[in-house]
Amino acid sequence: MKILVTGGAGFMGSAFVRHVLANHPEDLIVNLDKLTYAGNLDNLKEVEKNDRYKFVKGDITDEPIVSKLAADQVDVIVNFAAETHVDRSILNPRDFIMTDIVGTYNLLEATKKYKIARYIQISTDEVFGSTPKKFIEESKFDPSSPYSASKAGADLLCSAYTKTYQLPIVVTHACNNYGPYHYPEKLIPLAITNLLENKKVPVYGDGKQVREWLYVDDHARAIDMLVRKEDVDSVYNIGTGEELANLDLVKRLLQLLNKDESYIEFVKDRPAHDQRYALDSSRLREVGFKPKIKLDDGLAKTVKWFQDSRWWWDKLKSGEYLEYYKKQYQSK
Ligand code: NAD
Ligand code: TYD
Repeated sequence: MKILVTGGAGFMGSAFVRHVLANHPEDLIVNLDKLTYAGNLDNLKEVEKNDRYKFVKGDITDEPIVSKLAADQVDVIVNFAAETHVDRSILNPRDFIMTDIVGTYNLLEATKKYKIARYIQISTDEVFGSTPKKFIEESKFDPSSPYSASKAGADLLCSAYTKTYQLPIVVTHACNNYGPYHYPEKLIPLAITNLLENKKVPVYGDGKQVREWLYVDDHARAIDMLVRKEDVDSVYNIGTGEELANLDLVKRLLQLLNKDESYIEFVKDRPAHDQRYALDSSRLREVGFKPKIKLDDGLAKTVKWFQDSRWWWDKLKSGEYLEYYKKQYQSK
């Protein structure tokens, strides 16, 4: 099978690329990635010499390049490419609208034109907004940030293309992922790398917001299953049921790194901060997917990886990152 992966140099896309190449000796992967600040070829060092893997630097909003790649005997497209950080979307929404919506439109057009056998849109639980009870696949979209609104826009395009053109599209809504190669602007890698640098961890507001956590290799396994399964639904939630308040999560990381609570710094809350994300993932369980890594084990593995991989993250925390960081974290 030949898979066109977009955004495969990011955190979750690179985990999927590594997973497929390691587990499917017949498969070919073409990875189209723009290499934004979040795209990083260091994430793919272990596969860069694999002759079943090809990297193409390019933008999913660029119609000719998408068309050229899709036309070349692609069986499946998996779209991980996106602007992904809520706080950056609040500072500057434009790139989110371009990549997440217009980019998805381009990929859907290519799916239609070249009769791609399956298109998988990697989306998020954030499209549903905040919830007192678990979201099912049919829950109403109610996005709170420019990021989640642009992901919701892309998801709506997917469902319209499914209905209008009968395209074989699967949309997945995953909960928060974590693990190796996670860019250190997101809570878990930011907290771990700050603690390894003896800096404090910024906690937004009261830290009582709840997120559901999934180890990134488990996410890659779920998507791999949906790439290959014969009969698929058009939408799946991908969660673990392992929910935790941000402050409790940070306390677990402090424990793993032998730091006390003086390393917590409460900072200004995020505007329109969603209180809780939680998914009902029974549809995916029914077709045979079960996460393997429990949160406690996953956090310990992740901390160990960041301890051993300073070569990877040290250089990321400078330049543009520092400018962004200064704008973002103003103490109360
Ligand atoms: P990431 O920010 O780590 O990586 C995004 C990748 O997309 C980067 O390699 C970047 O270079 C690439 N990219 C951005 N704009 C592009 C463009 N115009 N053309 C081509 N490539 C482009 O993101 P991630 O955390 O790996 O997330 C991957 C996908 O999963 C996203 O669609 C995101 O919305 C979704 N998602 C993420 C989470 C999470 O917890 N991280 C949870 C659920 C869903
Ligand atoms: P984040 O990792 O940005 O993911 P998302 O916003 O997509 O869920 O944030 C996870 C949670 O942690 C979210 O409730 C915001 C909070 N948070 C902090 O408290 N401090 C931080 O420095 C960051 C980045 C996030």
